Amino acid sequence: MSLDPAFLQMAIDIVLRAGEIQLDNIGKNVQIEKKGPIDLVTQVDIEIEKMCRERLAKHFPAHVVLAEELPNSSPATDGSASHVWIFDPIDGTVNYAHGMPIFCSSLALDIDGEIVVGAVYDPSRQELFVAEKGSGARLNGCPICVSKIPRVQDAMLCTGFPYDLHETVDELVRVFGGFVRRAQAIRRLGSAAMDLCYVASGRLDGFWEQRLKPWDTAAATLIVEEAGGMVTDMLGDPFSPTRESVLASNGRLHQEMLGILKECS
Ligand code: IPD
Ligand code: CA
Ligand code: CA
Repeated sequence: MSLDPAFLQMAIDIVLRAGEIQLDNIGKNVQIEKKGPIDLVTQVDIEIEKMCRERLAKHFPAHVVLAEELPNSSPATDGSASHVWIFDPIDGTVNYAHGMPIFCSSLALDIDGEIVVGAVYDPSRQELFVAEKGSGARLNGCPICVSKIPRVQDAMLCTGFPYDLHETVDELVRVFGGFVRRAQAIRRLGSAAMDLCYVASGRLDGFWEQRLKPWDTAAATLIVEEAGGMVTDMLGDPFSPTRESVLASNGRLHQEMLGILKECS
């Protein structure tokens, strides 16, 4: 079944508009609230999510929207809807609140349980990552593919830490240490969607993180797969956005990374 091109265009339009709103407001006196001790939400997250929900409701009234900040207002939230949009208005909100230009907006479309469209936009670098199932991944219109690094000792890897990190720090640091001891370099950028897009584009060779949400991973994991990468959970089982833990790599590193995760967990 061929995919309606209007879906990808809608995803692109929404993340580009999100980027405009992000840049219009960054560094200004943006209102910030705490959802948890270190989990923030700004008025910009809310404004962008409202924009997304309004556009999708107007163009696709039967579709469901699953997004981070506002309760679902869509008519069919009982699991019966075939089309579900999964949206993160700002991925990298802590960066955004500090004026650090590493954040993006991420939108995916799930049809009948399969992610078929993904768009992630980083307005600071004007980089738009997109993928459609079966059609490859692109950065600003150019095809991208994962790196060819075969060993962790030559790899630049990336991770992130969940917002309950203070309670689980020992385990997280143990795993982090396992990779620090073996990899060429480790980064922690603060935006899981961008981390994954950087795996897709070969800038990073692998990424792992626990306790993520569907809006962190739905679009960008499709982009990794369509760029030729591999995505599983941290045990090596098939990934889905409801799985929470993710291991994404260029494929060649996957088994070695799984081995390190097993050894350190
Ligand atoms: C967070 C970012 C961060 C990751 C956290 C996520 P948010 O999303 O992706 O890199 O480490 O686990 O929750 O809160 O900025 O949308
Ligand atoms: Ca997020
Ligand atoms: Ca967010």
